[in-house]
Amino acid sequence: MAEKLGAEVLPIEHKTFPDGESYVRFDGSVRGETVVIVQSAYPPQDKHLFELCLMADAAKDLGAERVVAVVPYMAYARQDKRFMPGEAVSIRTVGKLLRAAGVDKLITVDIHSDEALRNLSSELEVANLTAIPLLARYMAEDKGLSGAFALAPDRGALDLAEEASKVLGGGFGWLYKHRDRMTGEVRVEERRLDISGRTVIIFDDMISTGGTVVAAAELLKKQGASRVYAACTHPLLVRDALKRIMASGCDGVVGTDSVPSSVSVVSIAGLLARELRNEL
Ligand code: R5P
Repeated sequence: MAEKLGAEVLPIEHKTFPDGESYVRFDGSVRGETVVIVQSAYPPQDKHLFELCLMADAAKDLGAERVVAVVPYMAYARQDKRFMPGEAVSIRTVGKLLRAAGVDKLITVDIHSDEALRNLSSELEVANLTAIPLLARYMAEDKGLSGAFALAPDRGALDLAEEASKVLGGGFGWLYKHRDRMTGEVRVEERRLDISGRTVIIFDDMISTGGTVVAAAELLKKQGASRVYAACTHPLLVRDALKRIMASGCDGVVGTDSVPSSVSVVSIAGLLARELRNEL
């Protein structure tokens, strides 16, 4: 990103003390500067978010004029409302913390929901970018899957599948997903799709345990899809998610580098740099 913008890169010294506390130090001056802090909030989420708060607060304290936080993967966005009485609306708390720490603007990518975006926006200025056209272009051009059907594994991902189909040109559809709030188990409702003999790409904002993709891929195979791929912006792929997805008959998984993983092949540096150009 810095290369694309011609911006200076300031090294950050960071470490964890033996008792688990975080430490950060800017190795250079930030006085009078617009400081862009790039910190994706993948696991360990709490540590990454707190380090971000330390960096933002220190930058302001050291005389930075403006602090822009680039958080490609925004953790806690799925807890965007009170699903059960007494719950914390976690994403709103994150917004309050970032504002209090001195973040003037937040740039994120394919945040989980409009609700999460609204909650954050009530606290600070937010830009939510989408990497879906980049992922779809990668599938079309690098994987040769132009004309594939784009599938949303649940209604929440429908806009993503629609966006992807503009690039792939093979139409789009969706499934109904139910997740047990207690066990986390995912069930996809049987729904007839016109995909027999076709290549289908499942598009989602993130893959965490892989439960959603596994359930969707099994249904797609049952309905005669010839090949099934999964593409997501944030490949969290916790525990053995990738292994489970491949075992379900999926032919491949692709993600962006918002989260480091073995499938993080699509770079979002250009996307972020374009947005940052307005800031610098
Ligand atoms: C939820 O609605 C999200 O968009 C993803 O579908 C979900 O978080 C994926 O989680 P998992 O991989 O654990 O099913």
